[in-house]
Amino acid sequence: MSWKNIYNERLVSAKEAALKIPSNSRVVLGHAAGTPVDIIDAMVSNKESFSNVEIVHMLCLGEGKYMAEDMDGHFRHNAIFVGGNSRNAVKEDRADFTPCFFHEVPKLFKDGLMKVDVALIQLSRPDEHGYCSFGVSSDYTKPAAEIADIVIAEVNDKMPRVMGENFIHVSKLDHIVETSNDLYEIPLPKIGDTEKAIGENCATLIADGDTLQLGIGAIPDAVLLFLKDKKDLGIHTEMFSDGVLELVESGVINNSKKSIHKGKMISTFLMGSNKLYDFVHNNPSVELYPVDYVNDPCVIMKNDNMISINSCIQVDLMGQVVSESIGTTQFSGVGGQVDYVRGASMSKGGKSIIAIPSTASKGKVSRITPFITEGSAVTTSRNDVDYVVTEYGIASLKGKTLRDRAQSLINIAHPDFKAELKAEFEKRFPKANIIVNN
Ligand code: COA
Repeated sequence: MSWKNIYNERLVSAKEAALKIPSNSRVVLGHAAGTPVDIIDAMVSNKESFSNVEIVHMLCLGEGKYMAEDMDGHFRHNAIFVGGNSRNAVKEDRADFTPCFFHEVPKLFKDGLMKVDVALIQLSRPDEHGYCSFGVSSDYTKPAAEIADIVIAEVNDKMPRVMGENFIHVSKLDHIVETSNDLYEIPLPKIGDTEKAIGENCATLIADGDTLQLGIGAIPDAVLLFLKDKKDLGIHTEMFSDGVLELVESGVINNSKKSIHKGKMISTFLMGSNKLYDFVHNNPSVELYPVDYVNDPCVIMKNDNMISINSCIQVDLMGQVVSESIGTTQFSGVGGQVDYVRGASMSKGGKSIIAIPSTASKGKVSRITPFITEGSAVTTSRNDVDYVVTEYGIASLKGKTLRDRAQSLINIAHPDFKAELKAEFEKRFPKANIIVNN
């Protein structure tokens, strides 16, 4: 049978597709801007038809209606990353959180530690050969679809066709729902003076020809502002957003010096505005691969001069980095932070940077603290940490003693908190002469 006949035979409405999901099953949802829309709406509107369905998801864009209080007993969310839409549900124990390095999520599926009964995904329209692109989310979405007992796909005519190892043939889809939904967009971050100062400090650690991993938000975008005079930069990253577009257009990012995937920007998902989604459509210079490849530290390290830039919530005086929880409250997840910290560390000439404003909560708390808050999870260990950057400067911690680390971190802390940090330093290192700049 031709793929077109298969496609037509498997077309169903969103409600019919939703009702194919068995009760007591595990459903893995496509990630971030690849989150399905119409079928989730149909599931939620027909909640009485479902009991005890586990919904596994990472970054939830959209409303996350399946996490609402009245979904109890019908759907329970299992988060591998907590975002704004799932934070309260996890905090109130209406949803679960499973810690896992991003690159290992597909392994959870493959090893059966998290068996995938249903993959609910969003795809581009099929090409002339019957292949749909996973569009902006290859990550764990493609591996989930490859292993699921039942694959249900929204085929969205607005999903860009993004290259790489990012395709599935329509014959692998069990049920197909045609949609025409705008992709979720994320607002452009606001870059203030603090972020600019952090960006400028980070940029001093980046040389011509380096390959970059940048996360999302104001700090990565601020770093990009200070790279306009660099040459031949490359991208190998978990995700990228609109911030890189200007540097691609000006030729600063040309991927010419990368050790692997020369000439290509490599990512595992994309999230930004429609400008970004238009840019990546059918663009041979952008390739997406599943996260167990892109974020594998052994793949990341193959790029010489790999620079990773990520952020955190708290760093203690030993260099323990807390990035995903505030006390026992799960705020986000490890995501790809440790994947890239380790990959960059193993890369010849690589560096990993934790870039943070020196304070949080409108200046009321220092992010550099004597101790991490009780209950917080250490994300990047003191053995892994490399550079920590604030608006006040750069602390280089790798290979440094506990005493030197503490001294360097105090020097880049906010002046309002230096006295408290210095007092702790003197308790811990009574024989040291601390030199604190202002
Ligand atoms: N004590 C108390 N509150 C704190 C705090 C601290 N030490 N640090 C941050 N907060 C609060 C902030 O005040 C803010 O609250 P508000 O919105 O009410 O003001 C909130 O927590 C978020 O902090 P902020 O640092 O502004 O968030 P962010 O959006 O820049 O994200 C991380 C920072 C660390 C949460 C985010 O980078 C992350 O999740 N990292 C781990 C995953 C990762 O690195 N992935 C790889 C890259 S994609």
